[in-house]
Amino acid sequence: MSGAREQFGTRIGFILAAAGSAVGIGNLVGFPVGAAKNGGGAFLLMYAIFVFAICLPVMLAEMTVGRRARKDPLGTYRELSNNSGGWKLAGWLSILTPFMIAVFYLVITVWIFGYLFEAVTGDLDVLANPDTFNTFINSPKVFLYMAGVSAIVYLILQGGVKEGIEKAAKLLMPSLFLMLLILVVFVLTRENAMAGVKFYLIPDFSKLTASVINGALSQAFFSLSLGMGILITYGSYISKDADVPNSAKLVAITDTAVAFTAGLLILPAIFSFNPDTNPAELSESSIGMIFTFLPKIFLALQTSIGYIGASMVASLFFLLVFFAAITSLVSIFEVPVAALMEEKDVSRKKALVMLGLILIALGGFCALSFGFVEFFTSFTHYAGADKSFFDVVYDVFYDTILPLNGFLICIFVIYRWKRHNLNEALEEGAPNYKGSLFARYVNMSLGTFIPVILAVIFINTVCLKYF
Ligand code: PHE
Repeated sequence: MSGAREQFGTRIGFILAAAGSAVGIGNLVGFPVGAAKNGGGAFLLMYAIFVFAICLPVMLAEMTVGRRARKDPLGTYRELSNNSGGWKLAGWLSILTPFMIAVFYLVITVWIFGYLFEAVTGDLDVLANPDTFNTFINSPKVFLYMAGVSAIVYLILQGGVKEGIEKAAKLLMPSLFLMLLILVVFVLTRENAMAGVKFYLIPDFSKLTASVINGALSQAFFSLSLGMGILITYGSYISKDADVPNSAKLVAITDTAVAFTAGLLILPAIFSFNPDTNPAELSESSIGMIFTFLPKIFLALQTSIGYIGASMVASLFFLLVFFAAITSLVSIFEVPVAALMEEKDVSRKKALVMLGLILIALGGFCALSFGFVEFFTSFTHYAGADKSFFDVVYDVFYDTILPLNGFLICIFVIYRWKRHNLNEALEEGAPNYKGSLFARYVNMSLGTFIPVILAVIFINTVCLKYF
């Protein structure tokens, strides 16, 4: 099978595809909401430390095992562990995780798709009203948009790796970044925006609680697409002469730059539009915040470029965010699809349809979790609160499982596959890696303090979240 495996056409194609997968709702929605919720600067600082000190080595590990085994995550764990039953379980987990992440990711992508339509056809004043979001996510229209998004995902994935992912990423990610930068400049020139910049950039160390630290780590993992088999799968498509360490660094830098810029847009916007914002109240922030403040920014643009101009900017922006979300959704969903094709020898089409139907059903339950249907809205109860179906999927597969999967991959590469195999594989195609400071850091950390920190955060999250 490995001989026939598709490969990325060019190195830059791989980097852009990996960055296209990495840049998504996590950067544009999750990160600014996380920063607002968790004390601004303190969160940003922890996030940056986690990305470069912990996530980057884990990213190398994932890409490298994938490239060596040339298999889906399950096959990778199986092959490199000589078929050990315990490790197969880790493989299963790294297929189940992206599938369940795709479930809630689908729902948020659907909302973005909906806002794109509303921005094109509707009124920015309405979108900027804080009540609109709640009304929107509980309207039956959501299911129409869900059908649209599902059809798009199907069409892209049916096209295969090269055509689908590489093309979309190459064109759209740079445009999105440019547009973000322009909007940041606009927001920063508004009154009181500097209060938001201060909140965002100056860490208040008294805010560094365990839950802020856990939140920053989950967000970093999610944003870089770690712990969900993505980079193992992507790694399996990288050619032997690609420089994995360098590519990983570029992906991490790009992804972090986009998240940082999104934060620099949203937090100053909050303080500028609501000058009385009390930073303590921001701990209640939720995803809806982004869907209210973005339209507010576009509405404010009206005075400079007119209503039609502002609507056009809003539509273009939502279009680009939608593409960022869909490239991510496609790459998450590709993991279980590729695994099913490989493990059960079914056709791409069959795998897509089978898993797609389950995805849409579970995504539908999530979409009904916001008041539409009582059963899904008050699905269960833990940590002193009612939890919806959406909350459960989100809590388990975003906040809890990612550090566990990270821990498993570290232990796997260092103690099962063995350090010398990892190093040998990492050096392939990377002439400057061997003996570099970075290589020494990876070598020292991946078998020691990185898994320890990940295990502590996992256990801590379980205790804080569910009890
Ligand atoms: N990293 C993506 C984001 O930040 C989410 C994602 C997860 C994408 C898994 C692909 C795979 O939105």
